[in-house]
Amino acid sequence: MKISIIGAGSVRFSLQLIGDIAQNKGLSGSKLCLMDVNETRLNATYILANKYCLELNSNLKIEKTMSLDEAIEATDFIINTAYPYPEDLEDGYQRWEIITEIGEKHGYYRGIDSQEFNMVSTYSYLICSYPDIKLALDIANKMKELAPKAWLMQTANPVFEITQIVKDKTQINIVGFCHGSSGVNEIFRELNLDVNQVEWQVAGVNHGIWLNKFDYNGQNAYELLDKWVKDKSHTWEPQDPWDVQLSPAAIDMYKFYGMMPIGDTVRNGSWKYNYDLVTKKRWYGKFGGIDNEVERPKFHQSLRSARRRMIELSKTIEKDPSIKLTEVWPEVFKKGEMSGEQHIPFINALINDKQTRLILNVENKDIIKGIPKDIVVEVPVIVDKQGLHPQTLNPNLNSRIAEYFLVPKIMRMKMALEAYITGDLMILEEFLVRDPRTKSHKQIKDVLDEIMNLSFNQEIKDHFKY
Ligand code: NAI
Repeated sequence: MKISIIGAGSVRFSLQLIGDIAQNKGLSGSKLCLMDVNETRLNATYILANKYCLELNSNLKIEKTMSLDEAIEATDFIINTAYPYPEDLEDGYQRWEIITEIGEKHGYYRGIDSQEFNMVSTYSYLICSYPDIKLALDIANKMKELAPKAWLMQTANPVFEITQIVKDKTQINIVGFCHGSSGVNEIFRELNLDVNQVEWQVAGVNHGIWLNKFDYNGQNAYELLDKWVKDKSHTWEPQDPWDVQLSPAAIDMYKFYGMMPIGDTVRNGSWKYNYDLVTKKRWYGKFGGIDNEVERPKFHQSLRSARRRMIELSKTIEKDPSIKLTEVWPEVFKKGEMSGEQHIPFINALINDKQTRLILNVENKDIIKGIPKDIVVEVPVIVDKQGLHPQTLNPNLNSRIAEYFLVPKIMRMKMALEAYITGDLMILEEFLVRDPRTKSHKQIKDVLDEIMNLSFNQEIKDHFKY
């Protein structure tokens, strides 16, 4: 069995996933192929991965490559965590920062990529996700030839748009992964519920999922949530900028839509919660969430320092192999504990028939009523050796969520993909025409002009015949 990680230098995924594989006895002896375009990051991950496996007594066979073809060839699973960036920049985050700054200069708070129902910073419908979509399609097209039966486990954002376009255009096996659904645990914790007694489902599209089923000991647990909202919600305080699951914004969305938004969905509401930092603080608590001008830069810096630490640690390990990663950095190099990511349980279920329920991005068919059947949705899926079996939703999403939230979000996804496929600049303009921050057509022309003329956007400029 071969598992390949594309974007293996990823700070947030590789080592965590490698720990999960190494600790899974059913996957022992597997081949793990690490691939990245950045040699320094790739080497660091490779050295750390080998050392980590040694500490975990794992017999994974780890190889590294900078060739996409080599990573894809004869593989069984491809985990795509790559965040592409231009050669002269540090990372994908920096590309987004530059484009966001230009947007702000032209009156678009948090940049033109922040759009209604899509406020999650760093990816977008408009400009920023072009390289990510392109890379995923490239991987999928290569898979047709080099590994036609493999699974592409799409993890890099935008998961919704990429899973959709790859499914529509290539027919390879693709499934989208997101850990956002773990937001339900915040609710269970706050309500003091025993997780084993909770029956729950979430459904929607990626970064737009809703708690459709919520029972506790056979009773409707929404009654418990309603009581918490009435008696305790005024005392809620976020522990950190990511902690928004029970924020006033989440409760307001619950009141409007009739079901609780889960995980990143809370960040993806309307402009009502996002006009400016003061507004964000009112709705997301004292930090104003993570998608703002104060917390975002801090977060990007923390990722960069984690990356530097990975590189330095790999050098130290080479000099002194007696250092134990599981002791010096236990938050990343876990021992006796899984990361909580769904990737390895997915592989284990398919390969070793360890039936498990996961929240995955798959084709709707008829799971969610009120939206088209060919859309990729995020729903509970039972996975076993026979394949993927989406659960019936009980109850289904209500019509307000389907029609007021999902349908507009799906429309924007379709506009983004059509712009990507056709290079029709008018679609990008149309996004901004409909944007409440736009005051004139000149403003649209000016902001697009400056972004298109960035040297690293030459390919996008050509694509849109700008
Ligand atoms: P990162 O920048 O730390 O890592 C991405 C890696 O991709 C880097 O090592 C980079 O060198 C590599 N890369 C860039 N272009 C490549 C190419 N063409 N081929 C191979 N490798 C390439 O980014 P981070 O923070 O790990 O995030 C990765 C992605 O995961 C982002 O798209 C992010 O939005 C997404 N993400 C997804 C989550 C989910 O639950 N699905 C949660 C958090 C982040």
